[in-house]
Amino acid sequence: MSKNLDRKLRHIHNYPKRGIDFIDITTVLKNAQDFHDLIAELQAACADLNFDKIVAAEARGFIIGSALAYIMQKGFVPVRKAGKLPAAIYKKTYKLEYGESTIEMHKDALQAGERVLFVDDLLAIGGTAEAACELIESAGAEVAGVLFFVELAGLNGRQRLTKYDVRSLYLVHEDDLSQD
Ligand code: PRP
Ligand code: MG
Repeated sequence: MSKNLDRKLRHIHNYPKRGIDFIDITTVLKNAQDFHDLIAELQAACADLNFDKIVAAEARGFIIGSALAYIMQKGFVPVRKAGKLPAAIYKKTYKLEYGESTIEMHKDALQAGERVLFVDDLLAIGGTAEAACELIESAGAEVAGVLFFVELAGLNGRQRLTKYDVRSLYLVHEDDLSQD
């Protein structure tokens, strides 16, 4: 049963730049029951998917992706921002709502043919997830699913991910969120 965790998200206008509405998940994470419920809801949402590892994107994706991997007894693979991984990497540059970013993944993190779930906190315009899935595929692995805590309505992030099984716990309309 849904715990309506979307109602506990904090919505901040004009952060980090004017015109951007920021969805802050820390208001969910700081409460033990809410954090537990979030991971349980993510687990239920991907229970029917067959995968070997979870890949998540730095930084917010690590928080929920690693907790989910731990509870589901899956391996965890970090996709990091540029310059943080020490061994040979795959690399991808993509557009954010506010600027540009480069993400990287270790070349030996995934084996060819492995099935992978990509997890992140938020689907906005979809650049992060699309780039991460391309990194997964660069390794010869298969994207078994893409799972988000929150999907921002109106930004059409899903349109970049049509070839994947995309799931989100909450579809959020920015106008519906409370502002602190
Ligand atoms: C945010 C969020 C997602 C991404 C979603 O990450 O955590 O990863 O943006 O946006 P998109 O669908 O338009 O790609 P951000 O890069 O701001 O950094 P963080 O996770 O390190 O806070
Ligand atoms: Mg992120």
